Amino acid sequence: MKNIFPLIIVAISFLFGACTQQEEKVVNLYTHRHYDVDKMIFEKFQKETGIKVNVVSASADELITKIKQEGELSPADLLITVDAGKIERAKQDGLLQSANSDVLNQQILAPYRDSENYWFGISSRARIIAVSKSYENPESLTYGDLASDAWQGKVLMRSSDNIYNQSLVAAIIGNVGEDSAMKWVAAVHGNLARDPKGNDRDQVRAIAAGEGEITVVNSYYIGKMANSDQENDRNAIEKVNFVFPSDANLNTHVNISAAGLLKHAPNKENAVKLLEFITRADNQELIYTENQEYPVNTLKPAEQFFTPVGEFEIDDLPLSELGAHQNKAVSFFEKAGWM
Ligand SMILES: [Fe+2]
Repeated sequence: MKNIFPLIIVAISFLFGACTQQEEKVVNLYTHRHYDVDKMIFEKFQKETGIKVNVVSASADELITKIKQEGELSPADLLITVDAGKIERAKQDGLLQSANSDVLNQQILAPYRDSENYWFGISSRARIIAVSKSYENPESLTYGDLASDAWQGKVLMRSSDNIYNQSLVAAIIGNVGEDSAMKWVAAVHGNLARDPKGNDRDQVRAIAAGEGEITVVNSYYIGKMANSDQENDRNAIEKVNFVFPSDANLNTHVNISAAGLLKHAPNKENAVKLLEFITRADNQELIYTENQEYPVNTLKPAEQFFTPVGEFEIDDLPLSELGAHQNKAVSFFEKAGWM
């Protein structure tokens, strides 16, 4: 009789523990994404499943540091980055676990997910060339052209700390090697019309304002500017051509926003449910209509939010390779003095 009491306590706490775990209908998300469409999708998810999405927003590097500091006690279930290289880094650092879900494998094209199921693309975007309409042969433009003497003093670029250009250079390294990539970075830097500043949209605005003639921009920002309530932005789009660059060296660089299930995720099932939900066809459609990002269930969306020039041939370098070349890319920017 003496020994039953502690047993009852153990049984009660076990039941209580099981209950609270079941009742905790949450998923804790650490995300680098900064778009309204995500909020819409999370609210829709809560309505459908009763699971609340708690969001912590910061850059991927900050979130990765936080996850490492929190260790086994981290409350985070999912990490979302805006770049394949960063999520691959999280995998290499041992922060993720594989998520085996037939639904995910069906909903996401193979090039847009990790072959070992450590991370999954949730949207894609092309990094394309924007050029002043005064330039006459936009359809033949390639990434290599940005480095040619013909564009001296005409190239606009954002600062090198931004992941979008780091991954573009990583893709160049992966396709044509380090020497050619370093030359490209130095020559593009030498062609700059002004010191690097602003975001993707600011470069397009600067072309429209005549401060330079050519830049690179993520495709969804063009859609956002075309649909903007700011007349200036809608007018700027009218003065610029958008080119899907492709040649024997490099086809159009496409990157993804990607999500990975964290190794110590306390709400693993809910996290996988959220991933399945985000990549479900209706929500991929929402990401396209609301945020002009491309879905991950098709390589080439037929409809565009802008009228592009050139054939959309996607660079087939495996996305996991971007992470392997990013440090090199950053060192090239530093060497070239591209701040
Ligand atoms: Fe962005």
